[in-house]
Amino acid sequence: MRKYIVLVAFLAMSLAGMAQSKPIYLDESRTEEERINDLMGRLTLDDKIAIIHAQSKFSSPGIKRLGIRDFWTDDGPHGVRPDVLWDQWEQAGQTNDSCVAFPALTCLAATWNPDMAHRYGVALGEEARYRSKDMILGPGVNIYRTPLNGRNFEYMGEDPYLASMMVAPYVQGLQSQGVAACVKHYALNNNEVNRHSTNVIIDDRTLHEIYLPAFKAAVQQGHAWGIMGAYNLYKNIHNCQNTYLLNDILKRDWGFDGVVVSDWGGAHDTEQAITGGLDMEFGSWTNGLNEGYPNAYDSYYLAQPYKKLIEQGKYSTRELDDKVRRVLRLFLRTTLNAHRPFGSMCSDEHYQAAREIAAEGIVLLKNQGDVLPLDPKKPCRVLVVGENAIKMMTVGGGSSSLKVQREVSPLDGLKKRLGPAFLVDYARGYVGDVTGEYNGVTTGQDLKDDRSPEQLIAEAVDKARQADYVLFFGGLNKSNHQDAEEYDRLDYAMPYGQDKVIEALAAANKNLVVINISGNAVAMPWVKKVPAIVQGWFIGSEAGTALASVLVGDVNPSGKLPFTWPATLADVPAHKLGAYPGTKRANENIWDLEYKEGLYMGYRGVDHFKTRPTFAFGHGKSYTTFALGKATASAKTITAADSISFTVNVKNTGNRAGAEVLQLYVADLKSALPRPAKELKGFKKVYLQPGESRDVTITIGRDALSYYDDTAHQWVAEPGDFEVLLGTASDNLPARVRFTLQ
Ligand code: BGC
Repeated sequence: MRKYIVLVAFLAMSLAGMAQSKPIYLDESRTEEERINDLMGRLTLDDKIAIIHAQSKFSSPGIKRLGIRDFWTDDGPHGVRPDVLWDQWEQAGQTNDSCVAFPALTCLAATWNPDMAHRYGVALGEEARYRSKDMILGPGVNIYRTPLNGRNFEYMGEDPYLASMMVAPYVQGLQSQGVAACVKHYALNNNEVNRHSTNVIIDDRTLHEIYLPAFKAAVQQGHAWGIMGAYNLYKNIHNCQNTYLLNDILKRDWGFDGVVVSDWGGAHDTEQAITGGLDMEFGSWTNGLNEGYPNAYDSYYLAQPYKKLIEQGKYSTRELDDKVRRVLRLFLRTTLNAHRPFGSMCSDEHYQAAREIAAEGIVLLKNQGDVLPLDPKKPCRVLVVGENAIKMMTVGGGSSSLKVQREVSPLDGLKKRLGPAFLVDYARGYVGDVTGEYNGVTTGQDLKDDRSPEQLIAEAVDKARQADYVLFFGGLNKSNHQDAEEYDRLDYAMPYGQDKVIEALAAANKNLVVINISGNAVAMPWVKKVPAIVQGWFIGSEAGTALASVLVGDVNPSGKLPFTWPATLADVPAHKLGAYPGTKRANENIWDLEYKEGLYMGYRGVDHFKTRPTFAFGHGKSYTTFALGKATASAKTITAADSISFTVNVKNTGNRAGAEVLQLYVADLKSALPRPAKELKGFKKVYLQPGESRDVTITIGRDALSYYDDTAHQWVAEPGDFEVLLGTASDNLPARVRFTLQ
């Protein structure tokens, strides 16, 4: 008995001891702040300096003796980038890092379906977890200001409200897997040319009303754990160390409690990095060992140079401690979170998500005479033309380049769906860029073709004359000066002489469908001659399957353009006003770029300058038809504290099930400051069976009526009369109703 008592006492003591020895930072019953405080007490100055900068191309160190793992980031935003070598951009050559490529973010935005954004985030987060990544470098929400921007495909279009509604669920979905989002590129990185040296000059209203809201939504609605600074400058300061953007707006005004990560090589100065709000520095100098800097990682601005300034007494650890606390909070959310899911990769669910998002984002731009869909039950002769029918698009384009487990080309997808009863032939039509390599990942495709443009056109036309349908797949690709990082497009026209091919095909066959593969609008001088046009985006692993499903009508298209499709470049306000790419300073490598068009960009610019786009923002057709009823409002008069609802009946009047997006725009009929004629402030996607109708209600609040008052530095909803315009595209808003804000 005595022995027993001693044993029990001993066990009880050891258990108490164990409980006591469990460090507070690992104790999940403690608050986040208690755990951070505990960790702070355990860190040396060297530890603190270590965790705020990189140790390799994509990782930063944890704290070994405390059992805190290294922190791994990776691109982003369309799939998990292949592992690269420790200190170089070149892929490491792993055999276990081939992923599912999800559709580019322009396509996601074109779904106008926030549920899809959430699903996208979850699937990507699962892939990231499986690959042991703690942060995905994305999503991107830089606003579409010019169709020349090489990186528009990685972003969510021109409208701050649409981008806000789509970014928040993406972030939430991703982070639900214990993987941090790093929303990029904050801010004003709206072109790639001179991206390291462009100093953006912009008025406060335009900054707050157009270029910041999606970042704000990512922070306040999505609760993003990371934000990536942009390469360019604002108010003459590089944005990765820009105190106005990072300290004042992001951290103070928006209450951001996560980390600011530099874009790779975006930090430029130790003192500005210390005081300007940067928390984690990545990518400085380490462009491989050939172009590296001695002891590169120790020489980072936030490494030894920072430590020296603290030791010299120039800085206390005040700024450092704030950075470190943020990084520790990030660890608690990711590497120190014992409940993170394990993730999964290349699952059927991920392919299904990729396919369904892709199909829902494809936009039917034009369908005169109901050329589409092809009837899969009526076998016929189909001619497919164009390089983009066969070219892999997941490799290239910069940091979003992927190594995929599989990618279905449009030609293969179509052949598979149509089956052997159809005679599907192929003609090249034009030769674009036959290369296919990025950082050592190769497509393995041999696209070489030495025939002259004339020979290629002659072959395509000859075959087109004998076909029942001609499907031309063209547009841009991921090569430099197309849809790719670091370069902008050189002009608005389709490259490689494609216009000629399309004109020739249009003359040869009346059932021509042009499927444009790109993340950007392109000039369409032949638009009136081609009966059917589809915007096919870069849609990843399931490209061919998704495109085929829309072309044959398995999926009724419901995508809507997330940007205006201008007729000419001169119609784009930035170009009309000569506000691109800015002016180089005489003795300095800085380009001053003033956003002269202010608020009047995209569809706001269309209204203001009275231009006629080829396709309007929000436009997208269906294989069925919809009729809208009259709009009713829940009130005639409201106060600023109220919300107000608008209801419109939407009816599917055709004979196929389909989805329509009811879009709500607000017009301030009279205001102290000039305002755009209308602005998107609500939307809802509805799925309707043939003949089905539904009352669709959209509720808006004070936010939807407000503008940013740049003298008072706050959002103001001015009393007066407003009109709400409802419809199915920014140029088709038949249901209107007025109300008064008291
Ligand atoms: C890009 C970022 C990317 C980073 C890491 C930079 O050049 O601008 O978007 O996340 O590289 O690859």
